[in-house]
Amino acid sequence: MAKKKLIRFTENISFAHLFQPRYTDLKPAFWLKGRWRADFFKNDHPITLELGCGKGEYTVGLARKQGNRNYIGIDVKGARLWRGCKTVEEETITNVAFIRSRADHVEYLFDTGEVDELWITFPDPQPGKERKRLTAPVFLNRYRRILNPGGIVHLKTDDHQLFYYTKEILKIFPAEILLETEDLYHQYPREPVATIQTYYESIWLEQGKKIAYLRFRFNT
Ligand SMILES: C[S@@+](CC[C@H](N)C(=O)[O-])C[C@H]1O[C@@H](n2cnc3c(N)ncnc32)[C@H](O)[C@@H]1O
Repeated sequence: MAKKKLIRFTENISFAHLFQPRYTDLKPAFWLKGRWRADFFKNDHPITLELGCGKGEYTVGLARKQGNRNYIGIDVKGARLWRGCKTVEEETITNVAFIRSRADHVEYLFDTGEVDELWITFPDPQPGKERKRLTAPVFLNRYRRILNPGGIVHLKTDDHQLFYYTKEILKIFPAEILLETEDLYHQYPREPVATIQTYYESIWLEQGKKIAYLRFRFNT
């Protein structure tokens, strides 16, 4: 393993705001499931969850703007999560947690209705592997269960096939689409969603790619 990665993995162990549950810690449920507000954040503020958060730009960026909400970022890659954790430590941000885990495990991590808002930022499009796509029905069903009824879901992507795919899938749920655009920065430059760019998003923008955005909620 590269030395830098090893140093980051070691430092990850010291972060009080990073949880790295083993598979056995998730069954039957992670100890903070249903208790994130009471036992970790120690407040009753709404919870926003970001899936596939990478370096955590959205989680941290939103947390800086809204101190009256709690933010949790999930990713499988420890070296990427290190960046978000380090920023949270350096800036003494108190309303953020990170979890190193798969988005597949959200129901072991969160209770029914415990999450108020969900972000899916530049997920891997997984062509040909629908079951791994973070907007496949199997995932959307999990999100629907952990979301508070009426909870908003945001998808930001450079992959327009994934954008169209997600819209088609949402028809069968059904869900209400609240805002959609195939070119966020051209059509809605003043929307709050256009004020934070993730690591991957910056790369796509430099390459001149259009960023698509979908905001929706499940019908109850
Ligand atoms: C293209 S990157 C985007 C990262 C970040 N959101 C950004 O925009 O810079 C996709 C991220 O999703 C993570 N990922 C992929 N599948 C995942 C899964 N099932 N659960 C959690 N994270 C996942 C990867 O580790 C990677 O960091």
